[in-house]
Amino acid sequence: MAKPSQRKPLMAGNWKMHHNHFEAIQVVQKLAYRLEADDYENCDVVVCPTLICLRSVQTVIESDRMTIGLGAQNCHFEEKGAFTGEVSAPMLAKMNVGFVIVGHSERREMFGETDDIVAKKTRAVLAAGMTPIVCCGETLEEREAEQTNDKVTTQIKAAFLGIKADDVGACVVAYEPIWAIGTGKTATSEDANATIGVIRKVLREMVGPIADTIRILYGGSVKPSNVGELMAMPEIDGALVGGASLDPDDFAKIVRFKR
Ligand code: 13P
Repeated sequence: MAKPSQRKPLMAGNWKMHHNHFEAIQVVQKLAYRLEADDYENCDVVVCPTLICLRSVQTVIESDRMTIGLGAQNCHFEEKGAFTGEVSAPMLAKMNVGFVIVGHSERREMFGETDDIVAKKTRAVLAAGMTPIVCCGETLEEREAEQTNDKVTTQIKAAFLGIKADDVGACVVAYEPIWAIGTGKTATSEDANATIGVIRKVLREMVGPIADTIRILYGGSVKPSNVGELMAMPEIDGALVGGASLDPDDFAKIVRFKR
């Protein structure tokens, strides 16, 4: 089954806590060098460096007129205030950041981000005019207990509760089974497709047909060798890529999954 044409594939590289600003500049330049106009026509490309590298990468993207989008890995939900060490959504927007990853499992597990915080961040990112990439996914224990669908349903309902349908329609969702992140284990493309189908059904129940325009990405050990199979699935609209996005050769191959 073909994907509805309005859902242009999106490949987003989550660099996590890798690459200092010199390396980040080099990687984005090498990536741009490897990609051609056709690639950007087939697929949107986004890189999400660490906060400290955003300004350097933004400058390179803009001065070299690259077609690569800029994303942040996190932000605070308040606009400003006494929140030592935090950065707000309007500050990111001012730097032409277009996407913000919200509720990544590493932030939920290691930095205490609850569904409530994820919901507040989703609203803050939208209010600042950027696109949230809202993450959800189950642990291995939850998967083995057959709680995957319940877990993602709860997370999605919480993240988008009370947000206008049009705004939800402007979001990106990433399904990242926690057991597949950085482990080399990938969900089978059929399993990933099925869970993403569940996520889309929940979104449809919440906001109606606009849910069919939302891009839902798969994340978890995506690499050049498995991206084609994942992208052949009707529900999978792209990937949120960790490890393999650090290498511009590998990430370019992922972006060119069709070739
Ligand atoms: P890996 O691609 O390294 O498994 O990471 C996935 C991820 O967490 C992207 O956000």
